[in-house]
Amino acid sequence: MNQPKRYMITSALPYANGGLHLGHLAGAYLPADIFVRTLRLLGKDVAWVCGSDEHGAAITIRAKKEGISPKEIIDKYHNEIKDSFEAFGISFDLYHRTSADIHHANSQEFFKTILEKGEDLEVKETEQYYDEKFNQFLADRYIQGTCPKCENEEAYGDQCEKCGSDLSPTDLINPKSTLSGENPILKKTKHWFLKLQNHEEWLKEWISKGTLDGKEHHDPKTWKNHVLGQCMSWLEGGLHARSITRDLDWGIKVPVEDADGKVLYVWFDAPIGYISATQQWAKDNGKNWEDYWKSPDTELIHFIGKDNIVFHCIIFPAILKAHGGYNLPTNVPANQFLNFEDRKFSTSKGWGINLADFVSEFQNFEGANEALRFVLTRIMPENKDANFKWADFVDVYDNELVNNLGNFVNRVMVLSHKYFEGKTPSATLVRDENFDNLVALTQKCIEAIQSFQFKVATKTLMEISSLGNVFLQESAPWKIFKENPEDPQIANCLVFCAEVVKVISILIEPFLPQTAIKIQQLMNFSTSQNGDLQTLLNNLEAKNALIEEGHTINEAALLFAKINDRKDTTRKEIIDRQVQKLEAILEEEAAQKAAPVKDTVSFEDFSKTDIRTGKIIAAEKVKKANKLLKLTVDLGFETRTIVSGLAEQFTPEEVVGQTVLVVVNLAPRKLRGIESQGMVLMATNGAGKMSFVSADNDFELGQVVF
Ligand code: 2FM
Ligand code: ZN
Repeated sequence: MNQPKRYMITSALPYANGGLHLGHLAGAYLPADIFVRTLRLLGKDVAWVCGSDEHGAAITIRAKKEGISPKEIIDKYHNEIKDSFEAFGISFDLYHRTSADIHHANSQEFFKTILEKGEDLEVKETEQYYDEKFNQFLADRYIQGTCPKCENEEAYGDQCEKCGSDLSPTDLINPKSTLSGENPILKKTKHWFLKLQNHEEWLKEWISKGTLDGKEHHDPKTWKNHVLGQCMSWLEGGLHARSITRDLDWGIKVPVEDADGKVLYVWFDAPIGYISATQQWAKDNGKNWEDYWKSPDTELIHFIGKDNIVFHCIIFPAILKAHGGYNLPTNVPANQFLNFEDRKFSTSKGWGINLADFVSEFQNFEGANEALRFVLTRIMPENKDANFKWADFVDVYDNELVNNLGNFVNRVMVLSHKYFEGKTPSATLVRDENFDNLVALTQKCIEAIQSFQFKVATKTLMEISSLGNVFLQESAPWKIFKENPEDPQIANCLVFCAEVVKVISILIEPFLPQTAIKIQQLMNFSTSQNGDLQTLLNNLEAKNALIEEGHTINEAALLFAKINDRKDTTRKEIIDRQVQKLEAILEEEAAQKAAPVKDTVSFEDFSKTDIRTGKIIAAEKVKKANKLLKLTVDLGFETRTIVSGLAEQFTPEEVVGQTVLVVVNLAPRKLRGIESQGMVLMATNGAGKMSFVSADNDFELGQVVF
């Protein structure tokens, strides 16, 4: 697409079943906010929507666990999430919600249109997991088990969050109902399936070549490699019909007869939520929503995390195409994951910090929310997973925001007051290579944002401030002043520095919107308006003066206060508290690991235990026992039957061939009617994951272990 006329931007709708943490912010919201704010500053026509994803099993699970209604859950978290976004300056045009009537009607319209077209939906009777204790069919999220691809034991029935694989509940090894903890049974039910296979051909062309209906749609080189890679591996695996309805009492009713107790699958309705939100926004603002979703000169961009790639690049486009009349995304710049202090965020373990908690914990740290925006952008997981550390937060804040940027702006103000009473003097404009660098860096920063390279963009912003600092340092107006207070070089230098501050005051807005306002107020510049960045670029290209002669700036004040400040330890204490909390968690974990050591045994007693090397040569499940496997173990001198509690973590196929250490003189005992003649040694980690203790594979069998 050449110059698009307008932009439709979306950010993944967060589930309203919990608060957001730093990883969410860095994934789909902060990059989109920087992108959209830049577009607005460039005077572009842009609509950016998001909203709470209020359906799906995750919400009903949470409600069941807390003994309250799904409505209470979504209201609570919708408000919390909305407040968090506001606190961090996330400037959606509308933050909507999928429980809104307009969205229910819109999603039903999508379903009915696709159904009536008669090509892409089929009804099938299938067997689905059913929890006999709770008397209900289990939606995919209600089932957990072992991922067949990466062995993550906490994979869900629709997706493994560890390796990103898209799964069906029946793919899971050892499935369990998350409601009762029992193994579910398979039972017949009827569902509507979207025939994704109908869309395989055009999707392949579209993803790999960027062509649609034989015409160029977008340049695939502008897409991130990991996004293309995930899509292609999905497409290469072949597309199959996917059920888009569920047996659930919470969600959008399937709008046909004979569908009692059935709702639309949350991943069918959620992305349609982008359209519903746009409809609502257009209604409220006198716009035509169809311009944003149907006009060929509108660019559609979805900001998401990597776990949502397939839904946005394959399934939602197929839904849009099946319905007809809608644009497809021209880019889906998914981010990878953010870890927290070398681990995954975990709400249950308290590892990480929620945005709402950050706001309250950092309330005495002025500008902390903005600082977090900056640090997260600086380490953004654009192309690979990234790691947030408090030590880096302090470093980036103190060195880049305080020492580099804040210091430069402050020096310019102080010196302008010192030599010119805060008034921009008459000067010869500096239009040498320093100015050329300023222009080039400004353009580079904008281009980086437009190509989703937000880390490069923040670095470039800092380079602009460094350019100002170096220029000021090398020009040293204080030295010139000592020799000749009337030397015009002083004015020339300070006017150029003020011009650099002017550039920063506009360019910083997408990253640090509050700081932009602060600089603008201090420098007495007018507050950023749509189009200001374009005007600035035009002025830079024309080498116009950026500040009028005689412009008065206000009294100098600091933009940021250091964390490592000897006099005021407030900010340092807040950070230290965060670090201490994590240390406490680690200590607690260590304490749990250091389980009490059993009573001492004498050497004689211990040497009574006869441990030998062995190999599992056959294995089968023990009937009516979830945990037990019946193993046949070759000890070299004989084979033994051993019943072992491995079945929850290993399939019989997985253990056959495994070398093991076996206690061979343990008194035999009967387990479920089978005589177990020994014990296989296992180790477990903190999370209860078992692994075999064994000698090398080529070790002779039956050797004594001591
Ligand atoms: O993964 C999630 O958090 C989903 N709620 C994202 C939905 S994005 C969209 F399609 F609405
Ligand atoms: Zn996996």
